[in-house]
Amino acid sequence: MICLVLTGSTLEEDISLITKHSPYIDIVELRVDLLSPEEQQKAATFPTLTTLPVILTCRRVIDGGTYSDSEKSRLALLETLLEGNFSYVDIEEDVKKASVLQKAEEKKIHIIRSVHDFVSIPTDLYHRITKIASKGHIPKMAVTPHSMLDVIQLFRVEKELVHVKNKIIVGMGPYGIATRILYKRLGSMLTYTSVNEIAPGQISPQVMKTVYRADKVNERTHIYGIIGDPVLHTRSPYIQNPGFDGIKFNAIYVPFLVDSVRSFFVLAELLPVYGFSVTVPHKQAVLPYLGKITREVKQIGSCNTVVRAKNLWKGTNTDYYGFIEPLLPLLQDGRIQHALVVGAGGAARAVVWALRNYGCKVTIINRDIRKAKSLAEVTMSNYDSLDNAKLYESSDLIVQTTSLGMGGERDGDPIKDFEFTPVHHVYELIYTPKYTKMLQRAKEKGATLYFGIDMLYRQGTLQFENFTGYHYPKRLEIDLDFKEN
Ligand code: ATR
Repeated sequence: MICLVLTGSTLEEDISLITKHSPYIDIVELRVDLLSPEEQQKAATFPTLTTLPVILTCRRVIDGGTYSDSEKSRLALLETLLEGNFSYVDIEEDVKKASVLQKAEEKKIHIIRSVHDFVSIPTDLYHRITKIASKGHIPKMAVTPHSMLDVIQLFRVEKELVHVKNKIIVGMGPYGIATRILYKRLGSMLTYTSVNEIAPGQISPQVMKTVYRADKVNERTHIYGIIGDPVLHTRSPYIQNPGFDGIKFNAIYVPFLVDSVRSFFVLAELLPVYGFSVTVPHKQAVLPYLGKITREVKQIGSCNTVVRAKNLWKGTNTDYYGFIEPLLPLLQDGRIQHALVVGAGGAARAVVWALRNYGCKVTIINRDIRKAKSLAEVTMSNYDSLDNAKLYESSDLIVQTTSLGMGGERDGDPIKDFEFTPVHHVYELIYTPKYTKMLQRAKEKGATLYFGIDMLYRQGTLQFENFTGYHYPKRLEIDLDFKEN
């Protein structure tokens, strides 16, 4: 079940949240602590206002809630509200007051016993789950993983405690994202979503339901993902998941925040993971784990796509192909013979090798000229300082690979005095914003433009082919600027 945590301060606000998100949710949690004091008194009527099952919860401050009156008055309030037709009530594990539990039992309201740990994963996690379950209650463990190893421990719950049918397991914080999306693989009966991230790492019900289709995951679902740090901003799930859906492949693509590549490979065997994208800073670190790599991966020394072959992991680099594809006809008929590559970092490596492999002459310019020199030496290219960009205005192709101009740095333009003309082909690797300052200048001078967002899409569809063996569904309109309602 996908659960929407209701965050309104009135019952009316909460009902309008349900109405707005109803296509995406199966159950709601009424957070009484977030209601105004007058509304709290009326909360028993809430289940009559919706057809969805409702969890009654009144969170204390120590558990991440806002209820600050005495514990006595909180339990008295809960007991009164149990008059309402709630399906579940969340009572913290340490609450001993028998009358609340007794009343819930009399009213046949399922009891969730919750544990919140915002710092770590309790060492006795499995023991506590079993103990709560033995009393006929539903254990809820909202805990905080801080590493891939912690995440593995959460994914093991299902294997270790398969006999505990009804349980709720939530990994909070950025490491927990994958556990929230793959909640069914943890054996968790629900995952919490919210509209305005009230707990760290919560995602919206719309994204959970329409992008990830998390509620459709079953034991046959093939798991794919992306590993990186940071990784939560990635747009790749918005390419891969609709693609899987488009070819009716029972698969899901999930972001994994990864601190240790080694640990991730352990998780990849446990789940199992069938293939994954690799982003910064792990594109080199995965290499020792690969049994087979393509020529490009060997040349560039970096891999962005890993797939499971029979007894080994295979690495390829779709950035390379995603970059070069639109240039191929121009390289082949000689319209592009000389390229100026701006930057000498990881992205530039793939670009320079791709151009060199197709016979293009390349000059690399970089702020730190030593880096330009070392890349130029291995790729048999020329190099120069970033300040000398103007000397290369006769180049056919200009490729911008630095991070200058990205996101907030809209004013950034690494080659300010370079004058574009209509004969130039200008390729920007940055994809947010679509038009960087440099690309805007090139457009005004009538140059031919190549956008980072298109390259992102191409490398993603090539990953899809590596993952599935199928072409990316052509007619699929994907929305990389996915905006929620
Ligand atoms: P990526 O994998 O995205 O290429 P990287 O390997 O960190 O990232 O490389 C970043 C590139 O952007 C480098 O060429 C870097 O120049 P330096 O080698 O001189 O650091 C370039 N870069 C980053 N910020 C820059 C800035 N403000 N001005 C010019 N170049 C910049």
